[in-house]
Amino acid sequence: MSPVYPSHLIRQVLWRGERLLVRPVRLSDAAGYAAAAKHCSLEDLSFRLLRGVREISQALIARFTEIDYDETMAFVAESVKGEIVAVTRLVQDSCRRSAEYAIIVRSDLQRQGLGTLMQSLLLDYAAGRGFEEVWGLIDGENRKALKLAAQLGFRKGFMAGVPFVRVVKALS
Ligand SMILES: CC(C)(COP(=O)(O)OP(=O)(O)OC[C@H]1O[C@@H](n2cnc3c(N)ncnc32)[C@H](O)[C@@H]1OP(=O)(O)O)[C@@H](O)C(=O)NCCC(=O)NCCS
Repeated sequence: MSPVYPSHLIRQVLWRGERLLVRPVRLSDAAGYAAAAKHCSLEDLSFRLLRGVREISQALIARFTEIDYDETMAFVAESVKGEIVAVTRLVQDSCRRSAEYAIIVRSDLQRQGLGTLMQSLLLDYAAGRGFEEVWGLIDGENRKALKLAAQLGFRKGFMAGVPFVRVVKALS
């Protein structure tokens, strides 16, 4: 049985005077994901995917768009033209007290506050779900994501033997 689409989580926000629809991802967003990926640099895609994946395949897009809206949640920001301009994702840990976040903003639209807006909305959602903390893995060379996380109150943790930084923010 397919999960019920959580339409109560749809909201409109203003970003630089433009209306954006921030809403849970839908199965039908696969084409929008592929189109958005064309506006993302290889470096940004690699940062998002932690160096793990070289191409945005149909299978990967299916993994991103087919979610249960419970253990996994993802929000897209959609422009008035219907283009996906940013995506956030939150995956609950097995302990159910914490969750891992990920975010990407189209490379051509960065440095204009969209990352801050989307990550803040995701943190609000995580707090509403009752998670005690949200964490993320960021490539050690990814200065922009590290800075964004620091600005939003995440603390850096140490991870031995891997080129990633674990950032964590307590919500309660
Ligand atoms: C990280 C990311 C989400 C930031 O999105 P954004 O829309 O540029 O974020 P904002 O415009 O809100 O900027 C927030 C802060 O991020 C930092 N930042 C953003 N771009 C930066 C850059 N090119 N260099 C240094 N810092 C940068 C700054 O601290 C900035 O604040 P400032 O403009 O006041 O200096 C975006 O760069 C991105 O999608 N990167 C690729 C994917 C990724 O790395 N995801 C994180 C791991 S899952």
